[in-house]
Amino acid sequence: MRQEDVWDVETARRYDTPGEGMFAPELLHATVDRLAELAGGGRVLEFAIGTGRVAVPLAARGVDVTGIELSRPMVDQLRTKVDESAVPVVLGDMATARAPGQYALVYLVFNTISNLLEQDEQVRCFRNAARHLLPGGRFVVELGVPDLRSLPPGQDAVVFHNADGYLGVDTYDVLHQRLVSHHFTFGEGRQARVGRSPHRYAWPAELDLMAQLAGMALESRHADWTGGAFTAESGSHISVYRLLA
Ligand SMILES: C[S@@+](CC[C@H](N)C(=O)[O-])C[C@H]1O[C@@H](n2cnc3c(N)ncnc32)[C@H](O)[C@@H]1O
Repeated sequence: MRQEDVWDVETARRYDTPGEGMFAPELLHATVDRLAELAGGGRVLEFAIGTGRVAVPLAARGVDVTGIELSRPMVDQLRTKVDESAVPVVLGDMATARAPGQYALVYLVFNTISNLLEQDEQVRCFRNAARHLLPGGRFVVELGVPDLRSLPPGQDAVVFHNADGYLGVDTYDVLHQRLVSHHFTFGEGRQARVGRSPHRYAWPAELDLMAQLAGMALESRHADWTGGAFTAESGSHISVYRLLA
C-alpha cells in the first residue's frame, strides 16, 4: 500500500468534514493559536499540508505558511480554498523535499509522521525539518501514543472506534512496529465503504532520539493543543523540539 494510493482523488474529496471531527472549530482554534504562538511572528512550514485543514486558518490569521505535500489530489482540494500566492506548496516527500527559505517553525500534525513506514524515513524527516529551521527554530510533532496496552497477548487487532455507521479497527504487526487502520463506513444498505492506511508507530522517547540525531532537543510535551498535562494515560502528544544552536 503506497501513500500515493492511500491519498487518492476519492480520499481527498472526502477528507474535509467542516465543523466536525478534526475540523471541529474548538480544536482548530486551539491548534492555530498554539502554532501561531510558537512561530512568534516568523515564517512556518507544514510537512504533509494535505487539504490545508490547519494551514488555511493559520494563513488567515496572518501567518506566512508554506507546505510540502506528497499527494496532488490533496493539494488540488487545498487549491479550492486558497491559491499559490496565499499558501505555496512544494509537491514532494517530507523526508527529502526542500521548500525555499528558512523557517521559525516546521510542524507535522495529525499523526502524519507515522505515514513514513521505515524508522530511517522518520529520522530523515526530522533531519529535513532541521535543515529548514532558522537557529533556535522549532519542530512540532503531533502523534498518538501507541495503544499496545489494548492488545492482549495472542490478539493482533483492536477496535479503536465504534459509532453509528462507522467502525475503526487497527491491525498490528508488532514485529515491525506497524499497524494498518481500517475505516469501515456503513450506509443504509448492506455494503460498507472501507478505507485503509498503513502506519509505523513510535513512542515519544523514540521521537526524542530522532530529534537528537537531527540536532534538536525537546522543549515541551503536552497532551493537547491547550497545554493539558501529558500523563501515562494520554492517548496523544504534541511535542515541541528546538534546533540547538
Ligand atoms: C492525515 S493527513 C494530514 C493532512 C493535514 N496535515 C491535516 O492535518 O489535515 C496525511 C497527509 O500526509 C500526506 N503524506 C503522506 N506521506 C507523505 C510524505 N512522505 N510526504 C509528504 N506528505 C505525505 C498525505 O498525502 C496526506 O495529505
